[in-house]
Amino acid sequence: MRAAGLQGETYTKTVDDYRRLHDDDGEGSVDERRANYTTLVNQYYDLATDFYEFGWGQSFHFATRRGKETFAESLARHEHFLADALRLQPGMDVLDLGCGVGGPMREIARYSGASIVGINNNAYQISRGERHTRRQKMERLTSFQKADFMQLPFEDGSRDGAYTIEASCHAPDKVALFREVLRTLKPGASFAGYEWCLTPLYDASSMRHRQIKKDIEEGDGLPDIALTTEVDQALVEAGFELIEARDIAPESDPFSPWYLPLTGKELTLRSLPRTPLGRTVTNFATRVMERVRIAPQGTSEVSSFLNRAADALVAGGETGTFTPMYFFHAKKPE
Ligand SMILES: C[S@@+](CC[C@H](N)C(=O)[O-])C[C@H]1O[C@@H](n2cnc3c(N)ncnc32)[C@H](O)[C@@H]1O
Repeated sequence: MRAAGLQGETYTKTVDDYRRLHDDDGEGSVDERRANYTTLVNQYYDLATDFYEFGWGQSFHFATRRGKETFAESLARHEHFLADALRLQPGMDVLDLGCGVGGPMREIARYSGASIVGINNNAYQISRGERHTRRQKMERLTSFQKADFMQLPFEDGSRDGAYTIEASCHAPDKVALFREVLRTLKPGASFAGYEWCLTPLYDASSMRHRQIKKDIEEGDGLPDIALTTEVDQALVEAGFELIEARDIAPESDPFSPWYLPLTGKELTLRSLPRTPLGRTVTNFATRVMERVRIAPQGTSEVSSFLNRAADALVAGGETGTFTPMYFFHAKKPE
């Protein structure tokens, strides 16, 4: 794992700084994380991107699962669903907010023919993404722009549509983000996405629920997690007309929930590192690699907190208190 090219002490310091922002008994707090959201998110993705690509692929999101479709097919279907909601077609100029290494952007461009600019504030992910785009010969329809999605470098009313997949959860202020998206859209244009949310089953007085929330925040670079109702309100407050919003997690086949790949119960190579044996082997291997200095100090700590986050995501899914796919479709008024 090269982890954003961070070397030795820099990598170890990045791990320590990141952990400190989540230490609510020490220097960390929601306000602190919001104020430092750029550092928080960039540190997180500098550390986690290689693990994501290795374990998940080029689309860094979850999907509902149906019938006998493969994992890759389920991701593509989840992406096409947004393209259909936005009625994307050739000639449209669209934004992908928080585009990762561009897996969804390339798939949606292939599927719809629309031109897409992927916004991402993480330089390492962009360098990875541009390489994938060149290899897949998708430069004509897709490109990356390094920018903070809280301050989009586009003129008012210049875009035919926008979408975001599991990225707006990183925003320090949802109303401000949605206002910024609204500003760049043409009147009548649509905005759709999948949000990470606490559901109405989340009970803030339950210690278990609070621990699940905390572990997801720490393990996934989030300042906080919003309730589904807060997302609806933020869209309306920003000036959007809300067309549709619903949690689509229950639309998975009952025996194939979105979190199945994280349980280690699937008989696939991808699930292997999540089985008890896989975890022991990974833990052992990362520690040995640290010892012989093939991997920087901190690698095994990152691997452990990503595993803790995966456990929390499974617990959030099983208790129904958390969803990574609160779907919304909103429109800029004419
Ligand atoms: C979970 S990943 C999802 C990536 C992509 N949507 C996908 O599904 O593959 C979240 C992405 O949001 C990006 N991001 C988070 N905060 C951002 C910000 N303020 N401005 C731009 N990008 C941001 C991260 O760098 C990362 O690429």
